[in-house]
Amino acid sequence: RKPVTVPGLKAMKAEGRKIVMLTAYDASFAAQLESAGVDVALVGDSLGMVVQGRSSTLPVTVDEMVYHTAAVARGLSSTLLVADLPFMSDRDVPSAMETATRLVAQGGAAMVKIEGAGRICEVIAALAERDIPVCAHLGLTPQSVNKFGGYKVQGKTQDAADKLLADARAVEAAGADLLVLECVPTAVAARITAGLSIPTIGIGAGVDCDGQVLVVYDMLGLTPGKRPRFSKDFLAGRDSIQGAIGAYVEDVREKRFPGVEHSFT
Ligand code: KIV
Ligand code: NA
Repeated sequence: RKPVTVPGLKAMKAEGRKIVMLTAYDASFAAQLESAGVDVALVGDSLGMVVQGRSSTLPVTVDEMVYHTAAVARGLSSTLLVADLPFMSDRDVPSAMETATRLVAQGGAAMVKIEGAGRICEVIAALAERDIPVCAHLGLTPQSVNKFGGYKVQGKTQDAADKLLADARAVEAAGADLLVLECVPTAVAARITAGLSIPTIGIGAGVDCDGQVLVVYDMLGLTPGKRPRFSKDFLAGRDSIQGAIGAYVEDVREKRFPGVEHSFT
């Protein structure tokens, strides 16, 4: 397979080909994603919850992100690698530049992901100016959990939906190349997707986004506790991890996942 690139993702949006993204935290899972044909691997700070067993992503450090990103990079050859800027490493431009430099130079990431808009647009612009590709992340941004008062669907009122669209336009204008939309109503995500030239990747954001992402342990039924509504156990009824990831890839490409039962109205 030819390497997946940032311009290649924009071409996929233009051609209406769905982008398949999945999280990975180590080389073995990365190799599984790679051979199943996943387009983009995300080293999410969700590793704080699903690998470290913490109750939020806030304690994850830059050192931990670099360690996991480097491990995932060793398992990949053609899959595009994205790594999260952890909590507060994006507090100002110098800190974000330092963190992104480490994730790219030491970790091997091709792109970094940052939660939020507003003043974060200044950080996105500074990274874009140095040609570091940026994935923005709006909607339910887990680093804002204390402000939200829990993990809740965002953009439910007309005002909140309008604000989300304005934020999405702002991160695109600042230079973001990709946008994750987490837990927003299907119609709101569809409106944002149609209004932007950069691809959107949904998680709990309906089938109309340009691509989908899930936490790999959630979609294998490994995460303890109640599975989130937007996820699905792809290992159920299948006999291998490779088969489960392959089914996810196919279901996203054929627009069979997510269904309305995994989405919010
Ligand atoms: O950390 C993560 O896994 C993420 C995805 C859920 C988008 O940010
Ligand atoms: Na994250």
